[in-house]
Amino acid sequence: MDHFNLKDGVLHAEDVPLPVIADAVGTPVYVYSTATIERHVAVFKAALAEVESGTDGPLIAFAVKANPNRAVLATLAKAGLGADVVSAGELLRARAAGVPADKIVFSGVGKTEEEMRLALSEGIFQFNIESEPEAEMLSDVATAMGLRAPVAFRINPNVIAGTHAKISTGGSEDKFGVAYDRAIAAYARAAALPGLDVRGVAVHIGSQLTDLGPSRAAFEKIGALIADLRAAGHAIVTADLGGGLGVPYDPAKPIPPLPQAYGEMVRDVTRGWNVRLLFEPGRVIVGNAGVLLSRVIRVKPGVGDPFVIVDAAMNDLMRPSLYDAWHDIRSVSPNGADMTANIVGPICESGDTFAKKRAMDAVAPGDLVTFMTAGAYGATMANTYNSRALTPEVLVTGDQWAVVRERQPIEALIAADKLPPWI
Ligand code: LLP
Repeated sequence: MDHFNLKDGVLHAEDVPLPVIADAVGTPVYVYSTATIERHVAVFKAALAEVESGTDGPLIAFAVKANPNRAVLATLAKAGLGADVVSAGELLRARAAGVPADKIVFSGVGKTEEEMRLALSEGIFQFNIESEPEAEMLSDVATAMGLRAPVAFRINPNVIAGTHAKISTGGSEDKFGVAYDRAIAAYARAAALPGLDVRGVAVHIGSQLTDLGPSRAAFEKIGALIADLRAAGHAIVTADLGGGLGVPYDPAKPIPPLPQAYGEMVRDVTRGWNVRLLFEPGRVIVGNAGVLLSRVIRVKPGVGDPFVIVDAAMNDLMRPSLYDAWHDIRSVSPNGADMTANIVGPICESGDTFAKKRAMDAVAPGDLVTFMTAGAYGATMANTYNSRALTPEVLVTGDQWAVVRERQPIEALIAADKLPPWI
């Protein structure tokens, strides 16, 4: 459920008519709804209310990569969430948004020494390390600082997530984690390193998961591994089950499992683990809390269906061109008529296509359209291809709204390039 609804024939974000934002800020622009974000936090927390997770309860560390806007992170921090970060940049953003260091988990295959030093000096909750060489580097860095780094190994369970290949991470050929069969040896090596406090396991098999089966299979393997690790003398006190729960994009497709069903599966599988559970949800928290608002530049007749050319492009929302992702496209002021069209951006690539042969609300030049469910992996993946400025972002609450990232002036983009002295 989201808070983008038609009122008096005009699409609103909560109580704010989207044309008001388009007129004031220009388009394209991302618009986020606070009430929708807060609702998803509450739903996810409620879904996990019954899981066994020690005395502190589960740690829900929002995957910052899904939406790193500081205002969004601050909203989540206020709602009690921690952060799952994968770079120094994300770590600093989370801290700047008010996420306490002891609610931060550092994931990622390529942490540098500098990033490790930063995270250690901040005092984060846990490093999820992904290889034995990484364990050695982290131990050296921590030892040099007179510290011991709290770590979990991310395990690659060799479970196929059944999602798009580019966002599937739990197969043995994927770059992520320590191979399941290598885990016991990896823990033994890491436990002997002076700078590490090896205390957990972590797993994340992919994103936009629409079936709980693969996650259950992965978690069951993790449960067995915890028992084996304990038998080998390791004190395992945390288990990080990652993120990945899918959200509905296409209303014509079956709805992915709801957080409640996910929570019940987790409760079932993890009963008796005797650990603190960690979660790293991204998309399910912010996915449908954001839309990309865009204006139709012109409608160009095609040999077949017309091309609706909008002022948003693949640089603003990469998901359709990268993953053939489906985003619902709605008119902000639908007039009741329908059309079938190809929705494209102005960029000079055929891949700059949001939808082909899409049955949608009829639109005309000057009309506003929204790409729905763009709150996750939208603005954060935007770039400046074709010298288009980064997309601004707006946060709404009730009848209030604020620009939470300004439109980058094109002059700033140009000024960032420096001419060498010989030109
Ligand atoms: N934890 C780890 C270690 C991850 O790699 C990810 C996502 C998450 C948590 C959060 O997953 P979520 O709950 O959001 O599914 N750009 C792609 C998605 C990439 C996901 C990368 N990792 C997209 O637009 O679909």
